Amino acid sequence: MTIPERLKDSGPHPLAHQSTAGGVSAASTQPSLVLRDLGISFGSKEVLRDVNLQVQPGQFVALVGPSGAGKSTLLRLINGSHRPTTGTVSVLGVNPGTCGRRSLQKLRTRVGFVFQQFGLVGRLSAMENVLMGTLGSLRMPRYGISTYPRQLREKAVANLERVGLVDQRFQRCDTLSGGQQQRVAIARTLMQDAEIVLADEPVASLDPSASMSVLNTLKRLSAEDGFTVVCSLHQVDLALQVSDRVVAVRNGSLILDTRTSDTSEEALRAIYEKAKGARP
Ligand SMILES: Nc1ncnc2c1ncn2[C@@H]1O[C@H](COP(=O)(O)OP(=O)(O)OP(=O)(O)O)[C@@H](O)[C@H]1O
Ligand SMILES: [Mg+2]
Repeated sequence: MTIPERLKDSGPHPLAHQSTAGGVSAASTQPSLVLRDLGISFGSKEVLRDVNLQVQPGQFVALVGPSGAGKSTLLRLINGSHRPTTGTVSVLGVNPGTCGRRSLQKLRTRVGFVFQQFGLVGRLSAMENVLMGTLGSLRMPRYGISTYPRQLREKAVANLERVGLVDQRFQRCDTLSGGQQQRVAIARTLMQDAEIVLADEPVASLDPSASMSVLNTLKRLSAEDGFTVVCSLHQVDLALQVSDRVVAVRNGSLILDTRTSDTSEEALRAIYEKAKGARP
């Protein structure tokens, strides 16, 4: 299969969302994300409290903080996997904690999720894994590349090209490097035309060079397509390099929310240092 000529043109990427290309448009003035007085407890354990955050379309937010601070829990509240104990979540104008199952399913097609463990099917090719990103929009389960509509196959190839993996598209995912597997996972998310991508430590298992490369790819795609990114990271140097904004959580509270250009590696490292001295 060849890459369609129209997808090789320069200028705004053909797969960029029409409404959000360039990051801002009339349709994208609604915040991607609004968290108000958000809190969650599991039994008697309060894990997050009084979290207030508003994220505009196209922003790349790095979520940092020590282990156990509540970063993954916060991302799960945003994608509706957890319901808040207090406060509200609004994602693209929808409250995933109170909307019905159908609305939640629909919302999830607009929100991509990238995990530390990639979440790929190892015995399937990169191409098949990427095509699986469209399953929410197809009625039937699919077995094999040829059972997907041609238009989706072309889109999958184009997205694999966008993450630099078009030559590996027929390779089994369990034979790809960690960095390549995470790129496949990102290409799979691109199939959704997601308006928000939530990434939970997407580079935790990669070496520094692959980590930087994967994050730069995510940043470039976000800039080209205008999608919002909220990405939890432990590597503060990487957070500073790729994000527009840094949000830090410690012991369940949001303790820093700043433009990336207004903070420093020392300031972020201090958040981790203080946590080491804290009681578990
Ligand atoms: N379903 C749950 N039931 C009980 N406690 C939970 C649950 N989910 C998370 N927690 C607790 O909430 C706290 C925050 O966990 P979370 O996974 O959000 O931290 P994190 O900031 O993502 O940490 P890490 O950087 O290690 O991934 C932890 O103390 C954890 O044990
Ligand atoms: Mg976590």
